[in-house]
Amino acid sequence: MGLEEGGRCTIFCLLLLLSVGCKCLASGSEVTQEASLSVDASPLLAQKIPDTLFGIFFEEINHAGAGGIWAELVNNRGFEAGGPHTPSNVDPWSIVGDDSSIFVATDRTSCFSRNIVALRMEVLCDNCPAGGVGIYNPGFWGMNIEDGETYNLVMHVKSPETTELTVSLTSSDGLQILASATIQVAGSSNWKKLDHKLVAKGTDRTSRLQITANKKGVVWFDQVSLMPSDTYKGHGFRTELISMLLELKPRFLRFPGGCFVEGDRLRNAFRWRDSIGPWEERPGHYGDVWNYWTDDGLGYYEFLQLSEDLGAAPVWVFNNGISHHDEVETAAIAPFVKDILDSLEFAKGSADSPWGSVRAAMGHPEPFPVKYVAIGNEDCGKTYYRGNYLKFYYAIREAYPDIQMISNCDGSSVPLDHPADLYDFHVYTGSKALFSMKNTFDRTSRGGPKAFVSEYAVTGNDAGRGSLLASLAEAAFLTGLERNSDVVQMASYAPLFINDNDRTWNPDAIVFNSWQQYGTPSYWMQTLFRESSGAIIHPITVSSSYSDSLAASAITWHDNENNFLRVKIVNFGTDAVSLSISATGLQGSVNALGSTATILTSGNVMDENSFSNPNKVVPVRIALRDAAEEMEVMLAPHSFSAFDLALSQSELVAEM
Ligand code: AHR
Repeated sequence: MGLEEGGRCTIFCLLLLLSVGCKCLASGSEVTQEASLSVDASPLLAQKIPDTLFGIFFEEINHAGAGGIWAELVNNRGFEAGGPHTPSNVDPWSIVGDDSSIFVATDRTSCFSRNIVALRMEVLCDNCPAGGVGIYNPGFWGMNIEDGETYNLVMHVKSPETTELTVSLTSSDGLQILASATIQVAGSSNWKKLDHKLVAKGTDRTSRLQITANKKGVVWFDQVSLMPSDTYKGHGFRTELISMLLELKPRFLRFPGGCFVEGDRLRNAFRWRDSIGPWEERPGHYGDVWNYWTDDGLGYYEFLQLSEDLGAAPVWVFNNGISHHDEVETAAIAPFVKDILDSLEFAKGSADSPWGSVRAAMGHPEPFPVKYVAIGNEDCGKTYYRGNYLKFYYAIREAYPDIQMISNCDGSSVPLDHPADLYDFHVYTGSKALFSMKNTFDRTSRGGPKAFVSEYAVTGNDAGRGSLLASLAEAAFLTGLERNSDVVQMASYAPLFINDNDRTWNPDAIVFNSWQQYGTPSYWMQTLFRESSGAIIHPITVSSSYSDSLAASAITWHDNENNFLRVKIVNFGTDAVSLSISATGLQGSVNALGSTATILTSGNVMDENSFSNPNKVVPVRIALRDAAEEMEVMLAPHSFSAFDLALSQSELVAEM
């Protein structure tokens, strides 16, 4: 998002001061409505917004993690995805050669007891075809291999006779070689861990990893991993996807789901214990709600590390003994409670505590500051929810009095019947309904636990795969959360990521494939709220016969150099609006220098971004040279605008 000095005609149209000679054609409407918005910025009425207000919710859905932010290129690296019974399906692994030259089958001979399945490869030919025969893995819809980049291959191998293997990165048909190396495997009855760096000579977005041999013999493989050497802070995350998260300045990271935490069946729920320790020893699991296997390379530890890397407070959503279709009754929940206490010791315990030492051995002796946990996900109506909840609640309160606990029951309109620090609030609905929910928390009792709007989005036809319309309704809803941030402590959009090859849930904030990514309008909308966490909110009054189509809020915030009054306003209607903005209580003047307007709009309200046009609907920022305490601006139909009025140095907003 850049500061455009010149501005296109559509942008000129957004500001009355610049609008002479332009027609606001965003929706074809030429009607102009009038409105006034006044901000009372006097310190007496100002309220601090919680530091945690806006964050992100990461769920393992749509291949967001496996084949997504987790940079592992091999899919089903331990041959476990087909289940523990052998022979099993090794999809997406496949063979190079044919059944006269190569025979592969899984067996249960791995050296890793928690993931016992390994692949036995028998080369049947002595005069093998040129290039050899063997196995290949296409990754997640192809591996992105880039010219000059280094890829770290690690694999566990056993071969009774000395064998020569060729490992290569090739095009999807195997014909073009991007990198190749020959590895000698000494004959032994023991497993060996081999590693090798492959440097690519060429770029291919849909490559595969091949392991071939030329001579008769038998080799077993297990835990074959290929990671790019360039990952965010060397922690295994795809750098460019992390950059998109950093752009949001998230104040918390809720993880690892959603329904992913519950499982359709309990046996398939996310289990933190199985997702920590050396990656080779993790069993992996099938996420039966979103229907794919994950090797759990992105495990509990990595989520905590990701929180730290993003500067976001971790919010650990754990399974409370309840899935979509089965429940542990409260009388039998004790081992599940113990399991979660162990997870908290893993995160927060000292490096010499039993579980803290496991974390330290993984490379993080300092505790992770887990201050929030959610006891389940969307389980309020389940038979054993309250009983189980209370068992977790009291055990955690006693062991970790500093941890804030989040209930699944909605306390926005009726008081909760159980103790909680926060309650989850989820909303997925059409654009009109969400727009009108901007006032939902106006009516909430001020005395109870705080709301955590941990999942919100416009869905259905209004949203498509991420429309401007959806983002406008969401922006309106968020202005309501800001205004009610005395009772709303946290909020996050959902879902965060989608791999374009697994469009299970639409829409999402960030779309990617093996090598590209873009933000939907809902992503860009969130960037206009990133300064709100920890800022100061001021009361506003909007007067207009068109006010049913408007939603607004006003905050003061600061960057390293300036303080700003930011007025955000959504025009959800089809008419342009001539808006007069006035601010009182600023105790000084607005400085035009440094003031800007940022506008999110497009020619059609259903416009979306795409790989071919990733910047079709993105915010555009322009200088606001006539900024003043009283000024007039023009709002385009179907637009979201943020007016940042720079305040002179004497008007430092008192920290509250
Ligand atoms: O965000 C997608 C899903 O929606 C989440 O897994 C679940 O919590 C909600 O139903």
